[in-house]
Amino acid sequence: MSTWANLGLQDSASPLMEQLIFFHDHALLILVMITVLVGYLMFMLFFNNYVNRFLLHGQLIEMIWTILPAIILLFIALPSLRLLYLLDEINEPSVTLKSIGHQWYWSYEYSDFFNIEFDSYMIPTNELATDGFRLLDVDNRVVLPMTSQIRILVTAADVIHSWTIPALGVKVDGTPGRLNQTNFFINRPGLFYGQCSEICGANHSFMPIVIESVPVNYFIKWISNNNS
Ligand code: CUA
Repeated sequence: MSTWANLGLQDSASPLMEQLIFFHDHALLILVMITVLVGYLMFMLFFNNYVNRFLLHGQLIEMIWTILPAIILLFIALPSLRLLYLLDEINEPSVTLKSIGHQWYWSYEYSDFFNIEFDSYMIPTNELATDGFRLLDVDNRVVLPMTSQIRILVTAADVIHSWTIPALGVKVDGTPGRLNQTNFFINRPGLFYGQCSEICGANHSFMPIVIESVPVNYFIKWISNNNS
């Protein structure tokens, strides 16, 4: 999760988020190179003494500074498109989780098993445990197996919400009357925090998501203990 003074991206916990971070760094590096070059050129204009009265056109330089940006854009566009399609790829998921956005909490359904379903509310500050995270911890966590392909179906019951987990590279809108799909793979055990990220009303900030990533055998135990 994100803590104070953490302004960049969180550490990735899934292959897709790893790729997203690689792409972010790649795009940022190109951005820095362009900024330095243009900054240098603009700075050097101050020292231009306009000596060449007959310099009216330059076909070659015009060609270069037209085509070069187009090529640079390709180096951003192609990896971006690759990632976009990679994010939408479904790789034979072994678990499907349905999450439904409500004003203002999430509810979950594990329809693959014994149709386990529960609501997940934020723990209010006055009821928070001493080691709890304010505005982030919930009463019922989403338990999911690590190192497995997981499919998420997202929808909403009232207004648009968004199921967002930064460390996993997941952000899917929950829209009433629609069912959106995405998938991810969790690399390691742990708690992964997320928040709703569509402005959905007064308590938009107070419907967090907590994923408890556990080893597969532990997940099977959890699922069999909840088969009511
Ligand atoms: Cu739900 Cu914002």
